[in-house]
Amino acid sequence: MIKVMEAGRLKLAVLASGRGSNFDALGEAIERRELSADIKLLISDKKDAPALQKAQKREIEAHFINPRDYKNKDEYEMDILKKLHEHDIDLLVLAGYMRLVGRVLLESFKFRIINIHPALLPSFTGLHAQKQAVDYGVKFSGVTVHIVDEGMDTGPIIMQAAVPVYQDDDEDSLAARILVEEHKIYWQSLQLFAEGRVWIDGRKVIVSP
Ligand code: GRF
Repeated sequence: MIKVMEAGRLKLAVLASGRGSNFDALGEAIERRELSADIKLLISDKKDAPALQKAQKREIEAHFINPRDYKNKDEYEMDILKKLHEHDIDLLVLAGYMRLVGRVLLESFKFRIINIHPALLPSFTGLHAQKQAVDYGVKFSGVTVHIVDEGMDTGPIIMQAAVPVYQDDDEDSLAARILVEEHKIYWQSLQLFAEGRVWIDGRKVIVSP
């Protein structure tokens, strides 16, 4: 088994492409002192992502890094990596980041890139997970926090929360119910790292007591 990190206050960087409600929820958990961390940096691949404004409001350093300004994904990620090193980042937190993470970040931040996905993985990976759940007719869906690997929504699972799916749900009503749980389990999952309790055993995450 591999221990991901020792206990200590976390230095976080958040990658976001959109709204940024999970970013805000992490900020609030830090303010409540339930998450022992500081968000040092927010990076967005979208110029008009509301997450960028949310970071400025919280006086957190925010950058728009345009993937189109680079020859390829490696060079784009090298620039992100430079910023992560400048701030001595412990964990890279994806919060609505709409790209697959490439080898540059995966190799430098092995087991230290975390994602949140609005479904009970391994069901309903990829885009529109809530719509997929409604269309399939499952009676429960939920949210998964997991470690990022080279696949899409495939890495070791840290925490999940289930919510019921009702007959009259649509994508939006289910997404809203799931989001309430997202905003609880993301910071709770990260706090396990701050407490030095996260181990990797093959494809499993083991949380020590
Ligand atoms: C969330 O539903 C998250 O699970 C998914 O993208 C959405 C991001 O929402 N990965 P927000 O930008 O954090 O509000």
